[in-house]
Amino acid sequence: MYAEYRHIFQLAKPYLNIRRNDIHTEIVYRFAVRLLESEPGDASVAIPAVICHDVGWIKVPEELHLKAFGPTADPKLTRLHEIEGVKLAQEI
Ligand SMILES: [Fe+2]
Repeated sequence: MYAEYRHIFQLAKPYLNIRRNDIHTEIVYRFAVRLLESEPGDASVAIPAVICHDVGWIKVPEELHLKAFGPTADPKLTRLHEIEGVKLAQEI
């Protein structure tokens, strides 16, 4: 992890402790770094966005998570994670 973004990841970690999002976020981070090496992009925007992109799941009741994916997914749950994730990302 780039040192300049490590503190953001540390702040986000408590919100990523669900659905194995801590591991998922590290994988997404690695893909983002690879993309930024070959495509134009602003790491100062992309990396914090990658780190925070799933923090909102912590606000969705865990028993509903399986209803948020797949062909019969409830879009309200996905939207809830997005709305709550923006709030948390702003705090982070
Ligand atoms: Fe994700």
